[in-house]
This record gives sequence, structure tokens and C-alpha cells, in this order.
Amino acid sequence: MTACIVGWAHTKFGKHDDRDVESLIGEVTIDALTDAGIAPADVDEIYLGTFNGGFVKQDFPASLVLQAHDDLRFKPATRVENACATGSAAIYQGLNAIEARKARIVLVVGVEKMTELAGAAIGEVLTKASYLKEEDENGSFADIFARIAERYFQANGDQSDALARIAAKNHKNGAVNGLAHFQKDLGYEFCRTESDKNPIVAGPLKRTDCSPVTDGAAALVLADMDTALKTDKPVVFRAAEHVNEFLPMSKRDVTRFEGVELAWSRAFGRAGVGLDDLDFMEVHDCFTIAELMIYEAIGLAPRGQGARAINEGWTEKDGKLPINPSGGLKSKGHPIGATGVSMHVMAAMQLTGSAGAIQVPGARLAGVFNMGGSAVANYASILEPLR
Ligand code: COA
Repeated sequence: MTACIVGWAHTKFGKHDDRDVESLIGEVTIDALTDAGIAPADVDEIYLGTFNGGFVKQDFPASLVLQAHDDLRFKPATRVENACATGSAAIYQGLNAIEARKARIVLVVGVEKMTELAGAAIGEVLTKASYLKEEDENGSFADIFARIAERYFQANGDQSDALARIAAKNHKNGAVNGLAHFQKDLGYEFCRTESDKNPIVAGPLKRTDCSPVTDGAAALVLADMDTALKTDKPVVFRAAEHVNEFLPMSKRDVTRFEGVELAWSRAFGRAGVGLDDLDFMEVHDCFTIAELMIYEAIGLAPRGQGARAINEGWTEKDGKLPINPSGGLKSKGHPIGATGVSMHVMAAMQLTGSAGAIQVPGARLAGVFNMGGSAVANYASILEPLR
């Protein structure tokens, strides 16, 4: 690959009643450029990731980035969207621009302000990322993943214990992440037990099996190799593979994520490494069943046996492959357009030893997996420090 992440920024994720999209974008734009030591005037290209569908009234948002600094005026700025993988889609457009030698320095911003809407309206916006002709029965994305969980349970037995363990792990990891939406270690018993505080949301999925509705932004600066070598802490892409799957769930076997399998086999091939070489991963746990199925798709456990990876502690922070040391979407939050950028920022922090309380000791090779919809848009990145 020919590009590096050379700087980054991340707002706290959560409910930001006092902030709008413009102010979230402004904060991370300036902070990421400052972190990279790059002047706004030197940015060649800007990509902004934010979800389609209307969480907020203001649309056509790419030029809002320009308002962060006068020297960004007249820069080419484009909005990129690919459902919950919007942030990674924006990053990959930046990588393409650098590989094509159209840009040396690219600013990528991911942002979402979800909490201005109420519950049902949020569901309506999110389900636009499903195949509406067949999948819009109850109007929430939790229903889509509940259906996937039910089909997986039919094929492989009830996995509620494993899902609760995944939720508990990610809440525990997020409890020490100062940028996370939730910073509370809820524990396995709370996550496993249906209660007033942890009701069923859809099918077998309880509240603790779902990522929350979150506001936030993240940004990173990409640079070509020559530029990156002049910066303090470049993190290089060893692989960046994007695989899109059919949109309708009726056209695929939903008990496995075949697009994810393909993305990761290509990413490992491109990087010339295997799963055992990774020191940790940030993966797309929009619902706990997704993390369980990702264990299988990346090859950590055989098909139908993903539960082993959590039951045997492999994916715990001190396990053989820590997964979501940041707390994942489950605990850190899932402001749709910001999520993919956030995952890459978390990985870059780990790889440069600057992740603080969530640091995985000695991390040198990271996997990032961000997906849009029901494993439809799949982005697999492998990252390592350049030096
Ligand atoms: N996990 C754990 N706790 C959560 C939570 C979550 N996902 N969402 C909310 N809570 C907590 C709140 O902090 C609050 O706690 P408190 O009583 O101690 O203050 C309590 O639960 C109630 O919050 P509320 O916002 O009223 O919950 P809700 O029932 O309206 O919403 C969900 C919960 C799971 C339905 C909602 O977060 C949701 O729709 N998530 C899925 C979003 C989604 O589909 N994203 C796209 C994925 S592809």
C-alpha cells in the first residue's frame, strides 16, 4: 500500500445536546490537522462520511469541513456514504486518491448526530440501509439482526450466553475508555438477564446486545509515503480490502458472513500475514451476534463455533486476540458516519502506544473491520506503525 495515517482526532462519543454537526466537524478537523502537524493549506482532498437518510435537517455537509479554517476554502470536498461503513468508505476514497497520485494529503472526517430524533424515527432512518422490499417489517435495525440471530440459533443452538459475554467484555473494555459513550462495567449477569433495565429489544436480543444511539465525530489525516516519512507517528495500511455483498438477505445464507470472509481472506493475502499475526482487532459489533459471527468469518473459530472464542477468553483484553479493546460499538457508541473513522483512530492510537488505559501492550499489527448493513458493505484494514 502507499498511504499512512499521520494524525487523528476524536470527540467523546455520547449524547451531545449542545452540539450540532458543524461544531463536531470543526473540532475534529482542527485537532486532526494539528495532531498530524499538517497545515490546512496543504490538504489536497477532503472526504466527509455521514449517513444518508436524515438524522438532522442540514444535508449536503461536505463543505462544512471548510468552515473549520479559512485555508480550507476551495479545497475539493465530497460526502461519502455506505451505511454503517460510511467512515471506512470515506477513508478508502482517500486511499484511492493517494494511490492514483491525485492527492498527497487527504483529510477524512466522519460525523453523526443521531439523538435529535426520537426512537421510532431513528429506526426509520436506519432501516433505509436494509432491503426495504423484504426487510422492513418492524422498522428497526435490531429486528434485522434479531432475524439473523434467530437463524443462527436454529442452525447452531441458543447462543445467549455467548452474546452476554461479548456484551460484558465490551462494556468492561469501554469502562476505561474516556472517549466512550458508556463507561460502566455492566458485568455478565446484568447482560445475561432480562430485566426492566435490560429488556428484550427484538427476538433474542436484549438492550445490552445492541449498540446505542450516539453523537460524535472522528477525523484522520492520510498521507502518501514521502509525506508520511516526514511526520512523527505514521501508521501504514498493509491492506485495505472492500467487498460488497448482495443487499437482500434472501439472496444469501445469513448464518454466515460470506462477504466478511472474502474481505479478510483478501486482506490477509494482500498483507502477507495471517490472523495469528494480529495483536488485536477493532470489529463491527453493532449487535453482539455480529461480533460472534465475525469471529467465524475471520477464521478465529470454525463455522457454528464462534462462541468458543469468547467462552475461552480468546477475545478478552488479555486473550490471544483482544477484540474491541476500545469497548467497540457496544460501549464506545455507534454514531454511524463516524464509526469507521473512529475504529481506525483507535487502532492508530494502539499502534503508536498512545491508547492510555485501553492500550494493548506492545501492539504492532492491527485488524479493523467495519461493515454496513447486514454484512453488506465490508471493509477490512490491516495497519502497522511505519517505524
Ligand atoms: N446498551 C446498553 N444500555 C443502553 C443502550 C444500549 N444500547 N441504549 C440505552 N441504554 C441505557 C441508557 O443509558 C439508559 O440508562 P439509564 O436508565 O441508566 O439512564 C437506559 O438504557 C434507557 O435508555 P433509552 O435511550 O431510553 O433506551 P431505549 O430502550 O430507548 O434504546 C435501544 C435502546 C437498544 C433500542 C437503542 O439504543 C437502539 O435502537 N440501538 C440500536 C441502534 C442501531 O440500530 N444502530 C445501527 C446498527 S446497524
